[in-house]
Amino acid sequence: MSNAAAPAAPRARTCLAVMLAAGEGTRMKSARAKVLHEIAGRSMLAHALTALREAGATRVAVVVGPDREDVAEEARRFLPGAEIFTQAERLGTAHAALAAAAALKKTEDDVVVAFADTPLVEPATYERLRAPLAAGAAVAVLGFEAADPFGYGRLVSDKDGLAAIREERDASPEERRITLCNAGLMAIRGERALALLREVGNRNVKGEYYLTDVVGIARAAGERVVVVTAPEAEVMGINDRAQLAEAEAIVQARLRRRAMKAGVTLTAPETVFFSLDTEIGSDVVVEPHVVFGPGVRIESGAVVHAFSHLEGAHVARGASVGPFARLRPGAAIGAKARIGNFVEVKNAEIGPGAKANHLAYLGDATIGEGSNIGAGTITCNYDGFDKHRTEIGKGAFVGTNSSLVAPVSIGEGAYIGSGSVITDDVPADALALGRGRQAIKQGWAKAFRNAASARKMKAKAKDPVSS
Ligand code: UD1
Ligand code: MG
Repeated sequence: MSNAAAPAAPRARTCLAVMLAAGEGTRMKSARAKVLHEIAGRSMLAHALTALREAGATRVAVVVGPDREDVAEEARRFLPGAEIFTQAERLGTAHAALAAAAALKKTEDDVVVAFADTPLVEPATYERLRAPLAAGAAVAVLGFEAADPFGYGRLVSDKDGLAAIREERDASPEERRITLCNAGLMAIRGERALALLREVGNRNVKGEYYLTDVVGIARAAGERVVVVTAPEAEVMGINDRAQLAEAEAIVQARLRRRAMKAGVTLTAPETVFFSLDTEIGSDVVVEPHVVFGPGVRIESGAVVHAFSHLEGAHVARGASVGPFARLRPGAAIGAKARIGNFVEVKNAEIGPGAKANHLAYLGDATIGEGSNIGAGTITCNYDGFDKHRTEIGKGAFVGTNSSLVAPVSIGEGAYIGSGSVITDDVPADALALGRGRQAIKQGWAKAFRNAASARKMKAKAKDPVSS
């Protein structure tokens, strides 16, 4: 037996992410800050923050524009520990990073400068960007092969690595022919970050402090700068609604692949839309044209039929939803329950095996195990001021076209006659009828028809033209 201590695991490197979120976003033509626009149900800022956290960022500084408390709030919502800084004037990317100087003073191993309007970068790519720092590089720049390099900073390399980044406006004609471009994001060794950023000047065509100048400055100090590449689709920056839609398509494609890899059948994947937080178990079948809003969890073996819309809902094992169902926040569908076509469920628990197969509104309700809710059943939950609950016991049978005026409860095993308006509680195993009594008048219809047609004939004989 050896009592030698196991070799210590290498210490994980600490990382400060500086997230530049002070974009103007004028091309979005929106009252909303650009970085608060959503992709797959989550803001661009939240996408970028989530990826950084998964990539091991131990601290995050978010740089927001003046009077952008909304952006700061969103950052805190996703990362309660986020440190918020304001860039009072928009004087360039290096100037923006320096707005977080107070955070940069507490040195971490790595600093990653990220852009909130470049939200599709995957955690693994941030990790790859940081890796060269551990191997001694001072700076690592994220690059990509641009299909059309116009407008991007070009990566100018020499035998020692990356020599400089030249912005479109400052580049020579030969440099403009370079297709390897700067994605914008950069990793800088922590103890050098503040000094390198402070050396950046604003002597360029735009008169801005360019983050990209850090490359030339580090090289002039004899340090190593490297390029890490990523696919162009992953590093796309979003400036307008068309690019926002492109980004949505990229994220949806990722989410569909993720679902299928996890054992979900998507009959027509390109017609199914997920949210970033959709949780979906194996052997779930999702038919075409289904939309998952935020907060949906589907357990194994459930089926979501075509044209259904779900949001804030939980669907338990083996349940069946749709076609054309709408599950709104707080819908909890029990195991093997069935929610059929044109059924809307909101803030309601549907017990295991219960059925509401057609045309119903079930809101603010609890529906017991194995109950049957007939077509056209409505829980009348709202009186114009408050919402009220409907409680339905196990094994109850609610006949078609019933209005259940909440607050009301229906006992276990009770029957509700079709077309009832139920305003009083119904005891277990009782039958409740709340509708006008049917009257039969023998021969009435025939007599009516005869009298009416005789009247018509008489009128026609008198005036054959107008009648
Ligand atoms: C930047 C890069 C360019 C790269 C391109 C990739 C610089 C100087 N240039 O150019 O090499 O090819 O991204 O898309 O870095 N921001 C602030 N405050 C500022 C200025 C910018 O917060 O004062 C933020 C913006 O909101 C944006 C990011 O920094 O999220 C990049 O700024 P932007 O003006 O879009 O830079 P580009 O001209 O696209
Ligand atoms: Mg840009």
